[in-house]
Amino acid sequence: MKILSAEFIKSCEKPEQFPRDGLSEVAFVGRSNVGKSSLLNSLLHRRGLAKVSRTPGKTCTANFFRVVTGDPLLKSFYWVDLPGYGYAKVAKSVQAQWGPMINGYLTERQELMGILLLVDARGVERHDVATFAWLRTLGLRVIVVATKVDKLSRAERRGSMVAIRGSLDVPGGTELILYSSVTHEGRDELWRAIRKLLSVES
Ligand code: GTP
Ligand code: MG
Repeated sequence: MKILSAEFIKSCEKPEQFPRDGLSEVAFVGRSNVGKSSLLNSLLHRRGLAKVSRTPGKTCTANFFRVVTGDPLLKSFYWVDLPGYGYAKVAKSVQAQWGPMINGYLTERQELMGILLLVDARGVERHDVATFAWLRTLGLRVIVVATKVDKLSRAERRGSMVAIRGSLDVPGGTELILYSSVTHEGRDELWRAIRKLLSVES
């Protein structure tokens, strides 16, 4: 994918602050520390565009990035890096703030074309299972991305795919892509899936 520009636009704590120019959006959800910010940087061939945290739960706002591609079908769109969720170390007060915000965003945002659900390739957790089921009940199109696959051997990868499909109960038509933000494995495959997501009329 040819990226002409990728630019951080703003961090929003409240829905009133979301951009209003009507561009289509793709959002990332996933447990804190699963690698959302790293994935964004890897996809866009940028280092440090989205802040990679050493302390889990650092991202507490919805971060909008405008991407302009050389693809005539895609043109430009927003990436939305959403706060991590389900991490026990995040303060209760922070959870109380971003829980309802993500909820509102996912259920009400017209521009949202689909979601990337990031799970750790080494194993899904209960919260991932619940989130995937919930996204499906909202009628959102979801791509499941298994991150940090560089930490697995070839043999383990195959097992990981089967285990994730099984525990999330991923239906046949839903894409499950193994990804590494270190080696960029899975990048072309994920771009193809995202392109499809954004090209579909809502
Ligand atoms: P929050 O913003 O806190 O929700 O976290 P996040 O989901 O954005 O995770 P982030 O991208 O900040 O990455 C968390 C940690 O995992 C960092 O130490 C990254 O370097 C590491 N990491 C992310 N992706 C990969 C990957 O593909 N492979 C490996 N080996 N490490 C990764
Ligand atoms: Mg992050």
